[in-house]
This record gives sequence, structure tokens and C-alpha cells, in this order.
Amino acid sequence: MEISNVAVIGAGTMGNGIAHVLALSKFKVNLIDVRRDAVERGMGYVRHNMDRQVNKGIITEDQKTEALNRISQSTSVETGVRDADFVIEAATENIKVKKDLFHTLSDICKPDALLASNTSSISITDLAAATSKPDKVIGMHFFNPVPVMKLIEIVRGIATSNETYEAVRNLSYKIDKVPVEVQDYPGFVSNRILMPMINEAIFCVMESVASAEAVDTVMKLGMNHPMGPLALADLIGLDVCLDIMNVLFHGTGDPKYRPCPLLKKMVAAGYLGRKSGKGFYTYDAKTS
Ligand code: 3HC
Repeated sequence: MEISNVAVIGAGTMGNGIAHVLALSKFKVNLIDVRRDAVERGMGYVRHNMDRQVNKGIITEDQKTEALNRISQSTSVETGVRDADFVIEAATENIKVKKDLFHTLSDICKPDALLASNTSSISITDLAAATSKPDKVIGMHFFNPVPVMKLIEIVRGIATSNETYEAVRNLSYKIDKVPVEVQDYPGFVSNRILMPMINEAIFCVMESVASAEAVDTVMKLGMNHPMGPLALADLIGLDVCLDIMNVLFHGTGDPKYRPCPLLKKMVAAGYLGRKSGKGFYTYDAKTS
């Protein structure tokens, strides 16, 4: 099927990044969030990140202006998805919220519209089961920062059709990303590997094996990671890391995925990383 109109639900870090790359690749995008201030803040990040690309010579001022003109904003899911050929959900990582949303989407979207989730760990099969068209539901997992990271993990639910998969694979290439097909198991591939590494780094700090700075330096200089696991946890959000560890732990029943107590304690204290100004490091300005 031909995709030209895309609705992105959720204007947070991932949602605004997804709107950014789609608009630069000439798709018409409707960026939707239930709160007006959230949509406006999301658009502010799109402008800021496109300016960054203009300054680096990656895009021209004209490309930026045209891309921004392709993004409309909405605070209503009902009206925002009406014309969409493709909906990508990047709302809060809460299974009830997502299931309710997918149930609604399957009722109100065009009959042949495809429904994707950017979830980092929630089962695509579960989300699809809440809809009347599970063959048209799929995972399209982007990585932060979206304009920079090349990977898209395409997650096939048990009922996802080949047609839906092919459409999302083609869309990924059109936005200059590299898709990788994975099946629907807890954490998919990316977070099944990444999160236990981050969790283990947190155990190292909790057990005073080394400081956060030392742990990150080991991984940067010893393993050539662009940033250390604790700085990355701050970028992702410690609450998101904890949610994903819980999905791995409960979804597999395997104790090797138990979340580190220090991670739980920091989340309980509101130390969520960059977005709260404090995590393993402190940040001057609050960033979303
Ligand atoms: N929009 C546009 N461009 C951006 C950007 C954004 N939001 N953020 C960074 N950039 C660009 C910069 O302009 C710069 O461009 P250049 O190479 O042309 O000069 C480039 O990215 C590098 O940025 P910086 O120079 O500011 O900083 P670094 O060199 O330290 O790179 C980084 C920053 C790209 C974040 C790098 O440290 C990195 O790759 N870190 C690992 C990120 C990662 O692992 N992400 C995946 C997280 S897991 C996830 O998202 C899944 C989820 O389910 C949890």
C-alpha cells in the first residue's frame, strides 16, 4: 500500500524524533499529543534538532522549512488519525494505555491503515489482540536520538501479515534507516542485550566495584562504546530502563533479569536521568 500521511501519537523524545525524520523524507505528518504544551514542546525539539542539522550542513535551510511545513499538530487522536495511512504510536510505556489506544485506533482509522508501535518492550502480539485487525499491527522500534541512529527493529507479532511487514520495511528504507526483522519476545533483540548490560553496570556502582565515571570510562575506552552504559541510562531514562528490566524479568520468568535494587531506588527517588536533571550524573537544564 502507498503511505503518504502518517500520524505520530506522542510528542516526547521518540515521537518528535520520528516526526522529524518522516517529515524530512517528504511524508505528511500529524504530531499528536493529548496536551497542547507537549505538542508545542515536541515541535520545539524538532526545530532545534533540524537547526543542528542545518548548522552541520546535513540539510539546507529550505529542506528544514519544507519539512516543518509538512508537520501539522493535533491534540485529538480521533481527528488526528482520520487521514492517516500509517499510525505510529510513541506514547507512554504502559500496557493498559497502549492497549486502549490500539483498540480505539482499530475502530477509528481508515480500514486499510497500518498500526505500528514504537514500544521498547511491550508485546506487539498483545497490542494486536486488542484490535480488530491484528494482521495490520507491527512494531517499529526507533533508537534515541532518532535523527542520528540508523537502526529500526521491525517486530512481527504472531499475526502480523507479510504485506504489513513489507510496507514497514519499505518505509524504513525511505526514511534512510536500516530495518532488522525480529520476532515478538520480551525486549526483542536490542533491549534484551542492552538492558542487562546497563543493569550490570548499575550493580557495579551499587556494590562499589567502581564509580559511575569509572564504569563508563571502562566501556568507552575498553570497548569503544560512544558513551558509557550509565550515561546512556540517563539518556534513555532510568524509569524506562526499569520498566524494560521488569518486562524481561516477568516476561521470561528468568531471575538473571532481576532489576538492580539501586535502579529501583533511584527511580523511586525521581532520579530519572537527563529528563529530571539528575541520574548517575547531574544536568544543568532539564531536557526531555
Ligand atoms: N537530532 C539531530 N542530530 C543530533 C541529535 C538529535 N537529537 N543528537 C545528536 N545529534 C548529532 C550531532 O549534531 C552530531 O552530528 P555530527 O556527527 O554531524 O557532528 C552527532 O549527532 C553527534 O552528537 P554530539 O557531537 O553532540 O555528541 P556525541 O558525538 O557524543 O554523540 C550520540 C552523541 C549520538 C548520542 C552518541 O553518544 C551515541 O551514539 N550514543 C549512543 C546512543 C545509543 O546507544 N542510543 C540507543 C539508546 S537505546 C534506545 O533508544 C532504545 C529504547 O528502547 C531504550
